Amino acid sequence: MTHLPVTIETEKKIFFHNYARLPIAVTHGEGVWLVGDDGTRYLDMIAGIGVNALGYGDNRLAEAISSQSAKLIHASNLFMMHPQFELAEKLLALSGLSKLFFANSGTEAIEAAIKIARKWAGQFGDPDKKEVLSLSNCFHGRTYGAMSLTAKPKYVDGFEPLLAGTGMINFNDINDLEEKVSIKTAAVFIEVVQGEGGIHRISQPFIDRLKELREQYNFLIVADEIQAGCGRTGTFFSYTQVNVEPDLVCLAKPLGGGLPLSAVIGIEKVADVLTYGNHGTTFGGNPVACAAGIAMINAIHDDHLMENAEKIGSFINDEVLKMAAKHPQILGIRQYGLMIGITVDKEAKYYAGKALEKHVLINATSVNVIRLLPPLVISQKEAQHCINVLDEIFTEE
Ligand SMILES: Cc1ncc(COP(=O)(O)O)c(C=O)c1O
Repeated sequence: MTHLPVTIETEKKIFFHNYARLPIAVTHGEGVWLVGDDGTRYLDMIAGIGVNALGYGDNRLAEAISSQSAKLIHASNLFMMHPQFELAEKLLALSGLSKLFFANSGTEAIEAAIKIARKWAGQFGDPDKKEVLSLSNCFHGRTYGAMSLTAKPKYVDGFEPLLAGTGMINFNDINDLEEKVSIKTAAVFIEVVQGEGGIHRISQPFIDRLKELREQYNFLIVADEIQAGCGRTGTFFSYTQVNVEPDLVCLAKPLGGGLPLSAVIGIEKVADVLTYGNHGTTFGGNPVACAAGIAMINAIHDDHLMENAEKIGSFINDEVLKMAAKHPQILGIRQYGLMIGITVDKEAKYYAGKALEKHVLINATSVNVIRLLPPLVISQKEAQHCINVLDEIFTEE
């Protein structure tokens, strides 16, 4: 038990000032409800930033974590571990890809993908074939490689110099794509649905051209499925909805059922790129996180959560469109399963603050976009509650 008051004032005193935390100390959760230390229940439409696919208090997850932790919490990758093999088997089957590497966080998966891409490109004998490109408005993480691929100045400013040989293509701009990729390109990183960027989906013509250019210039397409993957958009991987076969896929966020876990999955042609000692991590593929990941993926299938994401997502979409007809503050909605962006006429932070007063947690991203990433287990009744609260807020204005 801490002797410090768990308040925003103490937070400011003892931590670096890199998080804009909500003034709530949370203790536990039930389903899609998060509970504060004063007993207040909040409808959680953020889900730990897209992590808690099963919401809170899922017994299958708790059981998987407790039984694995009673057996083995950590051993390191000096050893083989059953949960790693079982989770890898599932992910390889789901993706149809050939090789997998486990890490701990999204940004580490991106780092591994950059390293694999550059080393793979190195085999063609052109020392300049090292360029790693991403799309404007994207977010790939906070470590140097991933940050160098990240678009928003607020994540990058002051941390220069960035990784050399990185660059950005304007999102969905085919002319710019044609201009930027070349024989020097090792990889293009994409989020099929941009999350931090405000919930924007890559266009089919852009993807189709990217695929043609991959043939022409021999580079890798890396799908960052860290936010959009694991069923959130209604299919296990969001890239299957735009008909692209990525060479590398990065997963994280819900992958460990709330424990830190990420993965890079690769196509056969990159299978032999990493060699002993080339890359690694002490904790990556932790057996408890992998056991939780197995339980999480089983639950997604057993509870038909991808179908639920599709169903509740389109329910929210319809309800928001109805609200937009009466509230001019709503400018539009972009909805892909339960990855939802509602564009509003002012800073979305304002509405997040108002919703918090009414005990609903929503997130603001990309200035004027309200982002909803609820647990995939959300029911229509709970979604309706969120809609009612938003309706109240827009009406009160
Ligand atoms: C698309 C995407 N890529 C990468 C990351 C970085 O993941 P992490 O915060 O686990 O490092 C995030 C996190 O929000 C993300 O949304």
